[in-house]
This record gives sequence, C-alpha cells and structure tokens, in this order.
Amino acid sequence: MKNRRWAALVAATCLALGACAAETPPSETKPESGAPSSPGSPPSPAAQVDTSMVTSGAAGTLTHDAVKATTLPLADFPALAMAQENLRSQVLRRAAWQGSSPVEITPSINSANKDAISLLVTVKDGEHTHYSTIAYDTASNRAFNSAALIEPAKWSDFVAAVAAADGGAEIASTLTADVYPLGEAPALGFTADGGLLVIGAQTVGLDPEKTTPLLTKLGRAVQNGARQPEKVTARTKFESPAPDLTGSDSAKPDISSPSTQPMGEQGSDSPSAKESESGQRSSERPRISLGPDCEKLKCVALTFDDGPVAETKNLLDVLRSKKAPATFFTLGNNVKLHPEIVKLAAAQGHQVGWHTVTHPELPRVSADRVQREIDAGPTTLSEIVGSTPLVFRPPYGAHNPKVDAVIGANKMINVMWSVDTQDWNKTRVQGDALTQSVVNIALSQSKPGGIILVHDIHSTSRAAAGPIVDGLTKQGFTLVTVTELPGWQEFSWGSTHCAGPSFKATCF
Ligand code: NI
Repeated sequence: MKNRRWAALVAATCLALGACAAETPPSETKPESGAPSSPGSPPSPAAQVDTSMVTSGAAGTLTHDAVKATTLPLADFPALAMAQENLRSQVLRRAAWQGSSPVEITPSINSANKDAISLLVTVKDGEHTHYSTIAYDTASNRAFNSAALIEPAKWSDFVAAVAAADGGAEIASTLTADVYPLGEAPALGFTADGGLLVIGAQTVGLDPEKTTPLLTKLGRAVQNGARQPEKVTARTKFESPAPDLTGSDSAKPDISSPSTQPMGEQGSDSPSAKESESGQRSSERPRISLGPDCEKLKCVALTFDDGPVAETKNLLDVLRSKKAPATFFTLGNNVKLHPEIVKLAAAQGHQVGWHTVTHPELPRVSADRVQREIDAGPTTLSEIVGSTPLVFRPPYGAHNPKVDAVIGANKMINVMWSVDTQDWNKTRVQGDALTQSVVNIALSQSKPGGIILVHDIHSTSRAAAGPIVDGLTKQGFTLVTVTELPGWQEFSWGSTHCAGPSFKATCF
C-alpha cells in the first residue's frame, strides 16, 4: 500500500466497569493541562484520563519477540472492546506481513463521561509512531473513528482551520477520505481545556472556541469528557437504533459518508471521496466506521477450531505469506500444550477465541462443568495473549440458554458458522480428496458476511487453508476476523450469531 497512515488508527476508548457506582467528581481525574497554545509554541498535550474511570482491572500485555501490545479491560463496553481488539489485530497483522519491528501498542484514555469515551492508541511500528483514536457512544454501544467527532458539513471548515494553525499546512493536506483505507481517519484528541488536537508526527491544536462549532453531538460529549472526566458505569441496555451520533442537533446524520477500500494492496485504488459525493461538501469527510468497510466489501471470516497443534505453526506461516487473518477457537487442553503457538497467532494479528477446555457437548454436562469449561477461557488466554477472548464457539455447535448465560457472563459472543466445510467428516473421502472437497465447499458456499468452519487439528484441513485463501481472494473476498465482520460490534455478550444483522445467512 502506498502509505502507512493506516496504522494510525487508533484508539480507543475506555470505559469502564460496571463495578463503578455513581459518577465520581472530576477531582479524581488527572488531566495534564498545559498552557494555551500560541503562535510558535507547541499545543497543550492530550488530556490523560485515569484508566480506572473506565476499567475495573489491570491492563494486559501481549509480549512476543519484538511485539508488545497492551490491551485495556473494556469488556463492559462491548463495541469498544471489540474496536480495541480489532485495532490491535490490524496493527499486528500489518507489521507481521511487512516484517516491521519492533511493534508497540499503548492505549490510553483521552476522555470519559456518561455519554462518551475516547481511546487514544499510540502505535510504534518500526521507526514510525502512529496514533489512532476510537470514539465510543455509551448510549448506543457504537464505536467510530474520530472523523465522527466532526460534523459532516463542517469537514472542510475543519481542514481549513487545521491548515491555518501553526504547523498545520502539511497535516491538513492528509485530511481526506482516500488516504484512510482502513477507516482509521486522523487521530483527533482533546486537551484538558477542550481544544482539539490532530495528533500525528506533528501535532496541531485548535483553540476551544474554534473547536466547538465544528463538533457533532458525539464530538461535544468527548470534548466534555476531556474537560471534566467522570467515572463511567456500564449499561445493561443500549438504545437502538443508534441515535444521531454524527450531526449536530439540526444536521442530518451522515453515517454512510465516503467509504474507501480495505487493507491490503487493494487500498491504492480506493474510490475517492468525489465518487460518492452527494453534492455537499460534507461528503469529503472520511467514513466514520472503523476497519475494513465490510458493508461494501465482500468480507468473510475463516475460523479454525480445536487447536492448536504443533503443525498450527505451519498454518500460521501460510496465512502470513498470503496476508490472511483468521480466527482460532482454541481448546484449553491444546492451549496448555502449545501456549507459544497461541501467542504467535495473536502476535501475528489473528483473533484468538475459546472453545472450552475438553470439548464436551455442553448441554449434556452438569452446570458446574459448563461453568468450568467456559470460565477457563478468559483466565487461560489473558495470561498468554494479554486480553480476554471476545468470541466463543460451542463444541458441536451445541448450546442452550444456560450455556449462553455463562458465555455472556464471561463477556463473549457465541459464534456459529455459515459454511461447514465437512472437514471433520472422513466417511466419504479421505486424504487429498478430502482436502479438495473442503476447498470446494468453502469456495462454492462462501457469501459476504459469512463464517467458514475448518479444524486446524486435521492435516487435510491445514492443507486446504492455502487454496481456500487463494480462491476466496480470486473471488474478490476480503478476509477478516470474526469481530471485524459487519454488524458484530453491535452484538451483546452471550448472544448467538453466524452473520451480521444485514446478512441473511443460514446458521448451523
Ligand atoms: Ni470443536
């Protein structure tokens, strides 16, 4: 890809925990406030909100060779937790594909209050440092990139203000839709006095007076949370559909403004903002969704169950050589045997989910056993990959409301599949013929938004992985992890899905 700006996505949000009771007074915050910016002096730093305002536990860190990726425990805010994990995996996979090192991912909280949370993520990728921000709307449980902070109709005013600011000419030239193929948008943060920062190699600041008129309702909420941070309490119910998050009270929401292409080499010929102009200057704003634009692309998720086994390492080599992300539903007993492979998978940007410890048919075992089999996932995997799993797959696809409740209590989504490659079925064919059958089923039955089931414990299945990736790519599919699929960030913990809400898929 022509630019490395994709890595600038960032960040996140923070939120906190359900354990937090009433909002606490802003005196608990520790904003680092600097002097107002003036010509010739650098802008004030971004506000730093104490992470305890949005999280209840300690951050976890994935360390592997030259990778050091920190994750905040944000599972009380589902879409924020998924956005944080998606950002982490996107950064890590890109670094793995490019061979850049070291890679360091450090999230912090720029803003927090009852309405919104903003996560600022610093990414050191080789010699480069990038920044990303994730803006989270607490009422609707939706996460956006920071372009959602600026009103669509004010985007060109925003670019002009940045260009006029001290040192802003160069950065203003990058504030266009077509340089953000991964939905990362520019990293926007706030100072403790409410000024807006465009955070990059060079950070440009706008005064609070210039900033406020540019902001959406969500933008003003994030601005307020940087000025007066408050402890954030998890909600048990979210508003649906999403309220107006993007425009002012009088402006129409423009959630589907220009979109661009996904990651990978395809990014270089992404459609420009002009192609999707609706006649308003507002269309120049980059799209506000995070990650690959799976509402428009043919995204599909390849999933591997029951591993890892020693040979899973070879599968990871294949996936890396083909620049293909996957999701691994790991089995506890195998994780214990091969923790380094689980760590390697995460370090290369794959999603790591849970599949129980011993593979029982959960509805047929005792409640205590169900609890143990599922509870072990977050504790086991967080020690290895630095974060708790957000996705769970029940062995044999077997679950019931009691099982679902335990999955939900562990802050995971129950993930089924839309394509069964029958790779476990050796009654019809074996060997190379089975591999070919697995490939044929995957390529003939995959649809946008779908999930393909494969098992990395079988040599015949591992052999199918390369041809499946090649074939899907040839058909125009973009491979993503499960929580990057469209609509998944809207799902609640403990619910069961095999596709996002906008896809009519037949689930197994
Ligand atoms: Ni299984």
